[in-house]
Amino acid sequence: MSELSQRSTQVLSPGQDNPELYHSPLLRACRREPTPYTPVWLMRQAGRYMPEYRQIRAKVPFLELCKTPDLAAEVTVTAVERLGVDAAIIFADILLILEPMGMQLEFSAGDGPVLHNPIRTLADVERLRDVEPEESLPFVLQAVTTARAQLKPHIPLIGFAGAPFTLASYMIEGGGSRDYVRTKTLMYTQPEAWHALMACLSRNLMRYLNSQIAAGAQVVQLFDSWVGTLSPTDYSTFVLPHSRAVLANLTPGVPAIHFGTGTSALLELMREAGGDVIGVDFRVELDQAWQRLGEVSIQGNLDPAVLCAERDYVRQRAQRILQQAGGQAGHIFNLGHGILPTTPVDNVLALIDAVHEYSAREHHDTTAF
Ligand code: CP3
Repeated sequence: MSELSQRSTQVLSPGQDNPELYHSPLLRACRREPTPYTPVWLMRQAGRYMPEYRQIRAKVPFLELCKTPDLAAEVTVTAVERLGVDAAIIFADILLILEPMGMQLEFSAGDGPVLHNPIRTLADVERLRDVEPEESLPFVLQAVTTARAQLKPHIPLIGFAGAPFTLASYMIEGGGSRDYVRTKTLMYTQPEAWHALMACLSRNLMRYLNSQIAAGAQVVQLFDSWVGTLSPTDYSTFVLPHSRAVLANLTPGVPAIHFGTGTSALLELMREAGGDVIGVDFRVELDQAWQRLGEVSIQGNLDPAVLCAERDYVRQRAQRILQQAGGQAGHIFNLGHGILPTTPVDNVLALIDAVHEYSAREHHDTTAF
């Protein structure tokens, strides 16, 4: 057993050895148990909208920040303390795993991420390398262990990875895309290469997520941010088995959040692919989405743009989502996608307060907790 995983067994299995963590609102919500208030955290809660983050970024480029565990842990923990949210998410990026797989990754200011050697053929897929996270991504695992040690005992730490489809789309397009036409063309015309790529990704992603768990993460989130570009039939054929392979092979007992955007046509299929919690964006109504999903927890789904409106309006819109959830066990409040860089911090603080305040009333009125 590596030194890292030995150290981490103390924070593993929160149920057995850390009741404060096990009974935290977020972990209870993942298990669909009642909570005294609705837990809330925000995707990209540590990001450019926050002056503390911008200060660090003025001195350190993004990739270097991700690769410096003490700084990544500091950014993670600072966001939680500044906002008063109910969970931390490790500061990292879904694209980090692509470097040791053999992709040349660059974050250029303004243009977003670029992969300089995109995948176009089966031969390209066959050149990819399997990743040993302890060897090739030790900075992420160390950041997880350090952040876990610094967080208050009742704050769960979320580890994460990109889902196979979303990562494949970056590898094939060489960056972001509007229409995913290269990705879809490879999928339709070279299915063997497509499935080989997706199998390679899922094999590596399950190991990566499990090492984050061993390093100290209590929950993991799989980000399938761009999967909403697919029809249900294409999702079933080209994506579902691979996402399922990741989710089915995670460390037992550790909850997984399965998130995507633009997924209103795919919700039932994402549920089938797996996850204890399904993350939905703002293009669906939370109550309708939950009804369709059935007996599973749900995370979402305020439009991040609402945070750029008036504070009273932010509160009203938060209240409306809580009403849609109806105080039922298993709701984790979040945005439908990441916080926008232009968001005023005061509005974010107002949102967190509003969620805690309204849901405490809501739960008090409607449940026996
Ligand atoms: O949520 C958090 O606070 C944890 C940190 C986190 C980042 N990226 C930090 C980041 C997480 C969970 C991610 C995931 C991620 N990365 C996703 C999935 C989530 C989503 O938004 O759908 C995706 C698609 C990426 C890829 C990526 N990373 C893009 C497209 C960009 C550029 C876009 C942008 O906002 O500039 C990044 C860079 C990135 N990742 C930043 C942060 C804080 C901004 C970099 C900077 O500081 O300049």
